[in-house]
Amino acid sequence: MMNEARSPHTLGTVRLGEGAVIDEGAVLGYLSPRRGVSDILVIGPRARVRSGCVIYAGSRIGERLETGHNTIIREENEIGDRFSIWNNSVIDYGCRIGSGVKIHCNIYIAQFTVIEDDCFLAPGVTIANDYHPGCPDSRDCMRGPTLKKGCHIGVNVTILPYVTIGEGSLVGSGSVVTKDLPPGVVAYGNPARVSGTLAEMRCKTGRREAPYL
Ligand SMILES: CC(C)(COP(=O)(O)OP(=O)(O)OC[C@H]1O[C@@H](n2cnc3c(N)ncnc32)[C@H](O)[C@@H]1OP(=O)(O)O)[C@@H](O)C(=O)NCCC(=O)NCCS
Repeated sequence: MMNEARSPHTLGTVRLGEGAVIDEGAVLGYLSPRRGVSDILVIGPRARVRSGCVIYAGSRIGERLETGHNTIIREENEIGDRFSIWNNSVIDYGCRIGSGVKIHCNIYIAQFTVIEDDCFLAPGVTIANDYHPGCPDSRDCMRGPTLKKGCHIGVNVTILPYVTIGEGSLVGSGSVVTKDLPPGVVAYGNPARVSGTLAEMRCKTGRREAPYL
């Protein structure tokens, strides 16, 4: 005999600013299974949320949010203005994200990550928060990395817990960042090592002398 389907999940309260365009098939205010989480979702004016996106209750997001399809933003996230997150990306709970941050496709941001204003994460970036998964103290010492203002993170980069990436630095494609990086540098490889400063970098296409001057 078949079991009856369970009733749909109850949603929390959504405080949505004016001018929002929310696709059919997007879910706002999904209640967290975690105990003690607020049932209120706050999203500022002029949000554009596309189909397949699920945003949990207990998060606060500023104005002009823009999402792609099939994106998940979990609870207890504090996110600034002009946040854009593209298809199939996941922001796990408890992150702090500034304004003007752009998160591309297929990205995973682990719990308790900090991303400051104007950072850019290219497709496939993966962020970890637990050095020793399965350790009995994991739950208490989980902490994501901190990406300081204006970092650029290349495609398929992995960033380990507790690491700080300095202001404006650029991490090359496919890197694994295991240790702190200073501000204003280029770093790449596994493990990522500093190869120089942004100021020293030269344009490869010949359109301009230097990409960051
Ligand atoms: C890291 C990066 C910024 C370096 O650029 P660059 O300073 O112009 O360096 P070059 O291309 O001159 O390469 C210098 C050396 O580093 C190597 N290298 C460059 N990028 C690398 C990377 N991501 N991983 C490993 N080695 C790399 C090159 O093969 C070259 O090696 P060689 O000296 O033995 O020939 C660039 O290669 C990069 O990864 N950019 C990010 C691309 C990206 O993900 N964009 C996201 C938007 S889609």
